[in-house]
Amino acid sequence: MNMPRMQKAFDDFIKVFFPDVMCWTTWHPVGTDLASTYKVSVSVDKIEVKKRRRNRGIGTRFLKMLLILADQCGFDVVLSPSGQFGGDVVKLRRWYWRLGFRENTCSWAEFRYKANRRNK
Ligand SMILES: CC(C)(COP(=O)(O)OP(=O)(O)OC[C@H]1O[C@@H](n2cnc3c(N)ncnc32)[C@H](O)[C@@H]1OP(=O)(O)O)[C@@H](O)C(=O)NCCC(=O)NCCS
Repeated sequence: MNMPRMQKAFDDFIKVFFPDVMCWTTWHPVGTDLASTYKVSVSVDKIEVKKRRRNRGIGTRFLKMLLILADQCGFDVVLSPSGQFGGDVVKLRRWYWRLGFRENTCSWAEFRYKANRRNK
């Protein structure tokens, strides 16, 4: 996977198809394969839906889209539910769990969605 191009495409995609969503991501290379392309883990640092547009399923549709991309392209997605931006952490944890994220043991982030996991 060409990581810089993938990240740029993702950011452009959000602007066009999810204008109510602000999402900050960091794309971490986790090694290179023999063809010198990156393997990637995507960290969602913050996701926010415009206040007047919340509770209409936009956040859910957005994350589902990201997880479809993750499955198709083979990257993991990591994030940590945070109350820092006004959200209720218990609700956030439940929401991420429902979407297929699970507790993460192998890095700083609290939750991980493994590409192509079967335990959703
Ligand atoms: C969390 C957030 C992105 C959800 O976006 P949304 O478009 O409103 O989401 P949806 O309409 O798809 O609702 C999905 C889930 O959001 C969660 N949610 C709704 N309001 C919430 C709140 N105040 N705090 C935490 N989670 C909330 C609920 O679990 C809801 O699922 P449910 O109604 O089935 O329980 C949005 O509420 C937001 O921007 N919050 C402020 C920023 C934030 O806290 N971001 C996450 C931490 S990085």
